[in-house]
Amino acid sequence: MWKLATTALSAAASFSTLVTADPLSNCIENDVCFQVGVPTASASSGQGNIYYQMRASTRYSWVAIGQGDQMAGANIFVMYANGRGNVTVSARAGRGHIMPQADSSVQIQLLAGSGVSSDGKTMVANFVCSNCQRWGGGQMSLSSTTADYIGAYLVGQAPSNGASTSASIGQHDSHAAWQFDLTRATIANNANPYVTSSGSGSGSGSGSGSGNGVTQISSGTSTTRLIMIHGIIMTVVMVVLYPLGSLLMPLVGSWIVHGGVQVVAFLLMWAGFGIGYVASRSTVGFGATHTIFGTVIVALFGIQPFLGFAHHAYYKKHLQRGVISHAHIWYGRAIMVLGVVNGGLGLQLAGSDDAFVIAYSVVAAVMFVAYVAAKGFGVLRKRRRAGLSSGSGASGEQIRSKEQTSHVSPAGSYGGR
Ligand code: HEM
Ligand code: HEM
Ligand code: HEM
Ligand SMILES: *[C@@H]1O[C@H](CO)[C@@H](O)[C@H](O)[C@H]1NC(C)=O
Repeated sequence: MWKLATTALSAAASFSTLVTADPLSNCIENDVCFQVGVPTASASSGQGNIYYQMRASTRYSWVAIGQGDQMAGANIFVMYANGRGNVTVSARAGRGHIMPQADSSVQIQLLAGSGVSSDGKTMVANFVCSNCQRWGGGQMSLSSTTADYIGAYLVGQAPSNGASTSASIGQHDSHAAWQFDLTRATIANNANPYVTSSGSGSGSGSGSGSGNGVTQISSGTSTTRLIMIHGIIMTVVMVVLYPLGSLLMPLVGSWIVHGGVQVVAFLLMWAGFGIGYVASRSTVGFGATHTIFGTVIVALFGIQPFLGFAHHAYYKKHLQRGVISHAHIWYGRAIMVLGVVNGGLGLQLAGSDDAFVIAYSVVAAVMFVAYVAAKGFGVLRKRRRAGLSSGSGASGEQIRSKEQTSHVSPAGSYGGR
């Protein structure tokens, strides 16, 4: 009996040395990596020290890891350069989609091996947290096989008061979520695992194998790409194609060219809407002004092609504009303006680069001027032609005379509206 017990004990002991591994690592970008190491003592008692490392390029303004599956309720650690060759790690409480505020109840300490590398390219934070099994917004078992983590980063300059734990930081460019199997992150000693015994080194590298003990939940990169595609499609539709299709009407005077361009734009718009909708579900949700307003505008566009066809049918019959014509023209212009404005809201929501915002505004302005110029040109040309006939009412419809003459009677019959 006694012998059996000791055999079991030594088996357990050798097992426990077997499972003692290296810290686990997860890189959410090539140059943004996080590690976690849990001393066996902490894992077995359910409380105590847990050792983190954040390693990132200094091209980032900040990078952060958080315990939790979303911002709200997460126990977040933000790293940024402190302007003195070292880094600040700021423990913050996630409260939702707003800047997390410093949380002094979380006990952390920066350890050896932290700092900005001598070539200025890399920043590393090795730190220990002594009460991270529980925090204001939640808790986490130190022996969980599915411990929820989030990460995020922002590219850019370090915060101006980087030495302060309450420095104000900008919104991330991207974020990710994953789970660590903490039973594979156990370390034998309750000590900084990221430095070699010879002194402050670069840390123990990439942890135990690729993907071992790490389950990816989401990476912000895929939605970032979706949002970019959505933004590009919607910009092309609202800022280029719809105005282009509209200016072609007075310029070319062919309802087929106009209607054709607008129908292509219309179909693209619905594709852009679908992509925006999918992207919104994993980001802002459906409740943002941009998404609600955008959905309303896209729906308002829904009847515009029908108004166009209705006008065309009306015109063929009466050879002049009717209420339906003015509805198509003015309703069209109004929703086009709303669409361009909503693109601006989208850029704001996405916190887009100034370059993109400037490009968007410039193209929008150019298209506006081109539309007005084409309109003026069309009106002038029509006046000149009207001078030869009887018409005094300057109407855009008359520009279509070339096309209309082919299947309607003589040109002289185009009166006013
Ligand atoms: C100024 C600071 C911050 C602001 C204003 C902010 C704002 C937002 C907003 C608006 C969203 C939803 C849209 C989107 O997905 O992009 C979001 C999502 C997210 N953020 Fe932040 N954030 C900030 C800091 C952080 C930090 C420090 C982390 C650290 C890990 C983080 C992690 C996440 C994650 C994982 C999501 C997706 C899950 C969720 O919706 O909560 N954020 N944030
Ligand atoms: C008039 C219609 C719309 C236009 C012109 C438009 C345009 C844009 C633009 C230009 C951006 C910025 C993209 C970037 O900077 O990469 C954007 C972002 C976005 N749009 Fe739209 N959009 C429209 C409608 C919608 C609709 C109906 C939805 C969803 C139902 C939607 C969802 C989004 C989302 C989720 C973002 C990203 C916001 C973020 O990064 O947090 N958009 N949109
Ligand atoms: C979403 C799609 C559409 C939009 C945004 C749109 C927009 C416009 C706008 C702004 C004008 C006024 C052009 C000007 O200033 O001279 C116009 C005129 C016109 N549209 Fe459309 N349109 C669309 C679809 C169509 C379609 C599918 C047809 C097809 C039959 C059509 C037929 C016409 C015609 C015949 C005119 C000339 C009206 C006149 O000058 O009296 N439109 N459209
Ligand atoms: C950064 O600060 C930590 C903690 O005070 C220290 O151990 C480390 O050596 C510092 N790094 C540099 C590069 O000064």
